[in-house]
Amino acid sequence: MLQRHFMASWVPVFMNHINVQLEHQAEPFLTFQLSTIGIDGFPQNRTVVYRGFLFDEVSTNIITFTTDKRMPKYSELAKDDRFEAVFYLPGARKQFRFKGHARVIDADHHPIVKLDNYKPRDVGDIDSDDEDEAKESSVPEPSPNAFAPSPTTSIPKSEDTSFWNHPIEFHLVSPKLINQLHKDHNASYSNFNDIHVPHELTLKPPTDEEYAQELSRQWDTLSKALKKSFRKPDPGSRMTPEKSKLIDSIKRGVDGKKDIDGYKNFAVVAMFIDTVDFYDSESDRRVRFEKDKFDMWSEYEICP
Ligand SMILES: Cc1cc2nc3c(=O)[nH]c(=O)nc-3n(C[C@H](O)[C@H](O)[C@H](O)COP(=O)(O)O)c2cc1C
Repeated sequence: MLQRHFMASWVPVFMNHINVQLEHQAEPFLTFQLSTIGIDGFPQNRTVVYRGFLFDEVSTNIITFTTDKRMPKYSELAKDDRFEAVFYLPGARKQFRFKGHARVIDADHHPIVKLDNYKPRDVGDIDSDDEDEAKESSVPEPSPNAFAPSPTTSIPKSEDTSFWNHPIEFHLVSPKLINQLHKDHNASYSNFNDIHVPHELTLKPPTDEEYAQELSRQWDTLSKALKKSFRKPDPGSRMTPEKSKLIDSIKRGVDGKKDIDGYKNFAVVAMFIDTVDFYDSESDRRVRFEKDKFDMWSEYEICP
């Protein structure tokens, strides 16, 4: 039978250690450090809460966090979408460093996904002997450096000032389509080269409605206190007696506004990951995972 790759090879490793960590710690959530490139060119680093995978589906291979649109990290990533994110899981003494490109889901934006490179093939269930042959016949001939880490995006043209409207190449397809594939063909998000996709099915990126649902799903997972924080005065602005009073009344829920009034400032950030550097300090082993331009993941051990 054809070996189907439903997710990047780092995902099960990551999920395993995330789950161990959550079992061993008192808090029900995990944080990580997110680095961006500041508007002034300085590195910017801060703690954010891990909000699971996009569409609550690990095989998207896309990790999310939420933020307030008024915070600098939002405009920093709009200007330069490159990030590095570091998780340290002390229970298991493991570190994951993710590098990639960010896209946002909010009331005005969602990722514009280009699926051009990911032509599915109708391979059906084939013997593993046939696998290489089938791959050869359907995957475009790789360029000599095709297996180098692949930047998912290029720099936007000078007239295009934000990465939020800039297309990103990634095999992110509509969750509805994936559910259909899952039901009908036992498939899931995957490396498209290895999914049995029927001829009549056209791969489509997630729809506007699916992104809107995701924004609302993530909003619903926030605590009452966190929802309130989205209607506080501008984060990072100078404190004044008036703002202090307003913050106090928001906290006490007597500011005359509703949770939904903060929704316009709410954003989900999707981290489209290109490389993962995994260091297991327990065994002193280090593994690098890299995505090529066909969204095929390779992994190899490196010296710690
Ligand atoms: C435990 C903890 C969790 C946090 N989680 C988030 C988060 O999920 N999203 C967020 O935008 N800020 C979060 N923050 C606040 C950020 O660290 C940071 O102070 C704030 O977002 C402003 O960052 P910026 O000015 O770089 O945009 C968290 C802070 C702490 C201490």
